[in-house]
Amino acid sequence: VSALRGFASDNYSGVHPEIVEAILAANEGHVSAYGDDPYTAAARRRFREHFGDRAEAFPVFNGTGANVDAIDAITRPHHAVICAATSHLTLDEAGAPERIAGVKLLPIEAPDGKLTLGLIEEGIDWGRIGDQHASQPRLISIANSTELGTVYTPDEVGALAEFAHAHEMLIHVDGARICNAAAALEVDLAALTTEAGVDVLSFGGTKNGLLLGEAVVFLADGLADQFELVRKQTGQLASKMRFISAQLDALLSGDLWRRNAAHANAMAARLADAITAVEGVSLAHPVEANGVFARLPAPAIEQLEWSADGARAFYVWDEPTGVVRLMCSWDTTGGDVDAFASRLSDTMTR
Ligand SMILES: Cc1ncc(COP(=O)(O)O)c(C=O)c1O
Repeated sequence: VSALRGFASDNYSGVHPEIVEAILAANEGHVSAYGDDPYTAAARRRFREHFGDRAEAFPVFNGTGANVDAIDAITRPHHAVICAATSHLTLDEAGAPERIAGVKLLPIEAPDGKLTLGLIEEGIDWGRIGDQHASQPRLISIANSTELGTVYTPDEVGALAEFAHAHEMLIHVDGARICNAAAALEVDLAALTTEAGVDVLSFGGTKNGLLLGEAVVFLADGLADQFELVRKQTGQLASKMRFISAQLDALLSGDLWRRNAAHANAMAARLADAITAVEGVSLAHPVEANGVFARLPAPAIEQLEWSADGARAFYVWDEPTGVVRLMCSWDTTGGDVDAFASRLSDTMTR
């Protein structure tokens, strides 16, 4: 097993020691299964501290499950979901939203992965709203931070939420990296969600130091009524839920969520600076959270994609343009960054 830390994914990292401690602390005696336990009650209270008194949080196993369940809970099969063409929802969930939530996805091309009012206004066929032959847009789903490492500000989220609500739609945030977005902007989690008018959030924990665990968080009244049944039907109900809940509680108590995310973001900024100092390397998207998308010359990709011991160092995101994705984690070190930049520099001078 390699002890190396690369930049392939923020899922490649291990578990933060404080999360390990929380799991161990929860590993005492018997408690009720399926969420009827004190750890889950505590986590649900913790979510209310961050997201407001109306927040209803439901722990789930993974991010795809959180997205699909959130969508399933608030849509019907004749509905459509507006999302960016680069969204995880449309590219990386194997059609789960279509199959399981039964919706039609309406992907819209969005530079740097961010939807805007203008893009949505152009992307919707307004003539077909109310037309019984067409799927009806019901939800706008954005990821924050985005799949391309960019971030929506509270005002940008607020404008999309206002637009959604004015058109009888709801707004969902895929927050697999919501902590990175909030840390990057130095705002609270509520500023990007509850206070911006978001209806439902997929809250990400796994990429930010958890062993596994995410939560679907309903922020508007009346949306969570049948959710426990949705979660059960889709296989996202954990019997030993206390272990997911204890992790979420530990992440959100104190500032661990922000510390981990801010660190990963800082490493990405350092990485961006270091690699763009190398001739022939440029950024493909602004670096605003913990991901760096950069154009590398083909020989550099060839030499660096895999490290000597066979571990993946990064993913090639777009082969024709030589864009690679470099993700930083809570455990990425300055040394990891500097070593990669220096190897990159070496490939240019060879
Ligand atoms: C933006 C985004 N959403 C959701 C997910 C959820 O992923 P998973 O189902 O692998 O936990 C990911 C993981 O890569 C992601 O990047």
